[in-house]
Parts: sequence; structure tokens; C-alpha cells
Amino acid sequence: MKTDFSGFHKLGLNERLAILKKATGLSTREVNDLVNSGSLDIEIADIMIENVIGVMHTPMGIAVNFRVNGRDYLIPMCTEEPSVVAAASHAAKLALPSGFKAESDDPVMIGQIQLVGVRDFEKVKDIIMSKRDYILKAANNKDSVMLTLGGGAKDIEVRKVETERGVMAIVHVLVDVRDAMGANSVNTICETLSPYLEEITGARARLRIISNLAVYRKARATAVWRKEDLGEDVIEGILDAYHFALNDPFRCATNNKGVMNGIDAVLVATGNDFRAAEAGAHAYAALNGYKPLTKYEKDKKGNLVGSIELPLAVGLVGGATKTNPIARISLKILGVKSSKELAEIAACTGLANNFAALRAMIKEGIQKGHMKLHAKNIAIMAGAAGNNVYEIASRMIQESNISVSRAMELVKIYRRAGRKR
Ligand code: MEV
Repeated sequence: MKTDFSGFHKLGLNERLAILKKATGLSTREVNDLVNSGSLDIEIADIMIENVIGVMHTPMGIAVNFRVNGRDYLIPMCTEEPSVVAAASHAAKLALPSGFKAESDDPVMIGQIQLVGVRDFEKVKDIIMSKRDYILKAANNKDSVMLTLGGGAKDIEVRKVETERGVMAIVHVLVDVRDAMGANSVNTICETLSPYLEEITGARARLRIISNLAVYRKARATAVWRKEDLGEDVIEGILDAYHFALNDPFRCATNNKGVMNGIDAVLVATGNDFRAAEAGAHAYAALNGYKPLTKYEKDKKGNLVGSIELPLAVGLVGGATKTNPIARISLKILGVKSSKELAEIAACTGLANNFAALRAMIKEGIQKGHMKLHAKNIAIMAGAAGNNVYEIASRMIQESNISVSRAMELVKIYRRAGRKR
């Protein structure tokens, strides 16, 4: 698939779909599913969660220009926020021709078993560690696809956590979950092991649950943005913005929100658990005082080098990735072969969206581009439909007055004009 999707955003929906179909090999049925907003059957939705009363839709866009480790990707992103897809695509375009370099750890998740009533922590730890091999064997005792693919429990750790209610021994089971997000298998392993841990330690097992701070499952990406494309002042501005976030948690929260704009959109599009990723990302950012998930510096030539590192527990199998037909189509468009590859792509979008937000704020501010796209939403909110949406949006932009009240006036004017015609 070629990356050159220049002008994609200027095409109409049908033209965009035709190009996407050709580039990705989507079937006509899959393209119909994408555009038919009712493609998540209510029967399937009813199985997915409880008390179902309907299905809520979110727009899906395609981020273009992403070259990652030399391969070109089209990245489906689901978000209600205007500018996110455009920003990611633009940042990726500026990072060409080399694009992004990305890598990730093996998909190892941590399962936690909380042992309370621990009188002598060191003794409890020694007992558990002396049974390490048996514990791992017991954890891997059930047949599963994960085991046949080389995954499963690989190691254990025992941590001391001192609390107001006494010392707790926290057993970490490190599980390679292969292409799953992993919560189900890890939680099952924790629940399976806890009676044995109680038996050998005399302590009481309380919580047995995955940790979303997936420090053994991090994804990393870097990109270089050239001095000749950005200009020295923008580079200095982005460095100032980065150091602001590095030293001020109030700014840092917003910086990291901009990172997650990109990552969450990919995770939603692929049916992944974006809350798990959010929890992991922010907990990781806060490990040594709350810090940005991205980093910026200059290389010897004065180019801007951006990088990102964060835990990313994403899957290609299980959960909504398989039950939601749109998530399946997203994975097909992406063409990723493993959960590692998906995490790497998501990390690249996080870096791209962060870079784009910083660059926009340094240059004209984000409101100009944002409001341009937002103008269409406001026109719809005010009751515009069809071509009037575009006309009212462009008129509000021309007048530099993008507001619901102006949109409502314009809707009335356009309706009256429409009746007279
Ligand atoms: C808005 O969704 C995201 C930004 O606020 C991120 C940032 O400030 O870095 C623009």
C-alpha cells in the first residue's frame, strides 16, 4: 500500500471509500458496514454489555501518511473531536520520508495477588520464591491458545507494600499474553493460584487482578521533524512547550491528554480497552512525579527529535476486537499482524498528535483549525442539514463568528431562501 494519500481530505466520502477499498482490499460488504451506522447489530450489542437499549456511534476517520519502520499504514481513528485525524495525518506527513521508528516489549502483563495478614514478609517471600517453578506450572496448567503460541506465565515477583493496615505481600505473576489484551487470562491465573499461595504462606488472599500499569509491555516510537520544514523558532517553541510540561503538572495533564487523543482514537477504532491504556499511561507518567509521555530534543543538525514511551496493553483477539464488526474492519485496514505491532502504531499516533498540538499552539494556536472543523458541528447542532452545513460553516468562518446563536440565525436565513427558490 502506497502512502501517498495527499489530497485525501479534499475528496468526497464515496471517493475516499473507493480509494480505501482499493488500497486495503476491503470487500463491498465491509465498506457497506463501515458507512452503515447500524452495522453493530443490536443483538450483538445486547450480548456485549448489560441493560442494552441501543448503540452509540462515533465518527471514524483514516489517518494517512504514516510510515512506521519503513511500512506505510492507514490508521483508523474513532473520535468525536474535530482536528485529531487531520493533526495526526499532518504530523505524519511532516515526518516523511523516514517516518516513525517504533518498537515494543513482549506482551507481558502483570497479575497481582494481594496477601494480607503477613507477619514476616521475608519469610513469606522466601516460601513463595522457593515454589516458583511449581507456581508457574500450576498457572500454565490449563490448555489455551496463548500457551500453544508460546505465551503463559513466565515469572513471579513478590513485593512488600507497607500500609495503614499492615504489611502486605503482593505477588506479581508475569504473563505473556501474546495477541490478547490479557485481562481475562491474567485474572484467571491469579484466581487459580491464590488458594495455593494462601496454603503455603498462611496469609489471606484478597484481590486477584491484572495491573493496568503494564511496565513490562511498553511501546516506544521516535520521529524526526526537519529544521527546514519547521523553522528554528517553531522548534524552539516546541522545546519550550515540552519543558513547560516537564515542570508543571497542570500543563503536563493537558500535554498527555493530547497524546491520548491519538492513542484512544486508534484503540476505540480497533475495539480495544482504552480505559486500561489511559490508566496505564497516566500511572506510568506519574511513577517519578507526573511527567510528559513524550520527549523532545534537537539533533546535531538542529532537527527536532520527538519520542514517546508508554505501557500499551492492546489486543487483536478477544473482547470487542472480534465481536464488533467495525473493529475487525479497522484491524484489516491497519493490516497489523500482532498486538506488538498495534501498540507500536498506537504509540506513533500519540506522538504525532502531541507534536501536531504543540506545533499548532506555537504557530497560530489550535482554535483556528479546530473551530474550522467545529463550525460544521455547530451548524448541525443549530439544525442545518445537507449542503447548508458547509455553507453555514464557511459563512461563520468568513465572519469569524462561530457560535450556535449565529448558526441558528443562518439556518433560518438559509431555510427562508430555500423556500423562496
Ligand atoms: C485538545 O484535545 C488537546 C490539546 O489541549 C493538547 C495540548 O494542549 O497539548 C490541544
